[in-house]
Amino acid sequence: MNIRPFQPDDEEAVIALWQVCGLTRPWNDPHADIARKLTEQPELFLVGTVGNELMASAMAGFDGHRGWVYYLAVAPAHRGRSHGSALMREVERLLRERGCPKLNLQVRAANAAAAAFYRKLGYAQDDLLSLGKRLIHDETSSDPATPRAPLPHQS
Ligand SMILES: CC(C)(COP(=O)(O)OP(=O)(O)OC[C@H]1O[C@@H](n2cnc3c(N)ncnc32)[C@H](O)[C@@H]1OP(=O)(O)O)[C@@H](O)C(=O)NCCC(=O)NCCS
Repeated sequence: MNIRPFQPDDEEAVIALWQVCGLTRPWNDPHADIARKLTEQPELFLVGTVGNELMASAMAGFDGHRGWVYYLAVAPAHRGRSHGSALMREVERLLRERGCPKLNLQVRAANAAAAAFYRKLGYAQDDLLSLGKRLIHDETSSDPATPRAPLPHQS
């Protein structure tokens, strides 16, 4: 697998990968997620290729205190060959290089396979609750207090 930063031409292949890997959700517009990532540390949005096939992704970032990784995906036909581990190692290397002391990630409670994968790589569950508050709704909202905001590339 060759690992490189995402390029604009990768967009449809990356979204297809996320769909086949079960990572898309109705409340996260993947096009908007990509557009937003391209405004912040786009060099930490990685894809993996084998030949001409884009078959893996990882979207990382460093907020000055912690590193985070999202959208780790390996296409089903390429799993079990250490590609997921290799991508995570590259994410860790890039974050360490920036002085990031700790990498956090969130796993959906139902995703036991991903939790087992991360544990193998040395990740441990922290003793905390993960809280979140949505600031921008990707879907058109019926709540006037939380209108849909323009995407970065549209503003
Ligand atoms: C999780 C995922 C990225 C793993 O990719 P992969 O390339 O198959 O992983 P690797 O081959 O590098 O596996 C590394 C280790 O994790 C273990 N592992 C991988 N998948 C596992 C699973 N489903 N259950 C238990 N262990 C698993 C492997 O056995 C391996 O351990 P070993 O080195 O002792 O053999 C891939 O299964 C995937 O894309 N899943 C769907 C998307 C997803 O859930 N992403 C995470 C979102 S939080």
